[in-house]
Amino acid sequence: MAKNTSGRGQRDLTVKVKTARGRKLSSTRWLQRQLNDPYVKRAQAEGFRGRAAFKIMELDDKFRFLVPGARVVDLGCAPGGWLQVAVPRINALGEKKGKAVGRIIGIDLQEVEPLPGAEIHQLDFMSDGADEQIKDWLGGPADVVMSDMAAASSGHKQTDHLRIIALCETAAHLAFDVLDEGGTFVAKVLAGGAEGELQKLLKQKFDKVANVKPPASRADSSEKFVVATGFRG
Ligand SMILES: C[S@@+](CC[C@H](N)C(=O)[O-])C[C@H]1O[C@@H](n2cnc3c(N)ncnc32)[C@H](O)[C@@H]1O
Repeated sequence: MAKNTSGRGQRDLTVKVKTARGRKLSSTRWLQRQLNDPYVKRAQAEGFRGRAAFKIMELDDKFRFLVPGARVVDLGCAPGGWLQVAVPRINALGEKKGKAVGRIIGIDLQEVEPLPGAEIHQLDFMSDGADEQIKDWLGGPADVVMSDMAAASSGHKQTDHLRIIALCETAAHLAFDVLDEGGTFVAKVLAGGAEGELQKLLKQKFDKVANVKPPASRADSSEKFVVATGFRG
């Protein structure tokens, strides 16, 4: 548990959560972590729908793919943190006068509260025909395909790893279909055995493939992001 130990005599600001009847120990731990997470507090203070917003912010600050005029597909967009970051950066509302206006399509299994500047569709990305449906909505090439998709945790590490790699591979195939030359693919993966094939495939299709753990990604999770730039077409 992180404690504020930065000064002698300073009050410990860590929020401690008591176990309550009917609440599992894992839920208590989750609640305690949420209440003490600086990114959760920052997201609330800055009006973001979730702490995930900071992950895409940090990735984009490093790789600069969310530029004015960019056409973006955001897979697994609920509750909409990544969309909130992308809309102003790609100038989807045309607020940056004289700069190109971008477009972003968000996809999720769950319903997402509307966000001005984003086109949001409720769709299971793994269902038959999802690929064609997204291409239809897009109506042309994309500059960025990004995916923060994660299946609900099964509690079994290896199963979760395989599921997320499957989501990521399917997202990569959509990216191969829709990306314009020079385009970028960003996706969350869990480090581990099954990612080797995916990395090999990405290296064939893109000029550069980086594996990044942004500071906002929890240090105790095996989550990381692949950022593949310079799609070869
Ligand atoms: C970590 S959340 C995404 C957070 C989001 N990037 C944000 O900033 O708010 C992962 C999302 O992936 C979605 N997801 C998982 N499997 C999916 C699928 N097959 N099709 C569409 N969305 C999926 C989940 O519903 C969930 O909302």
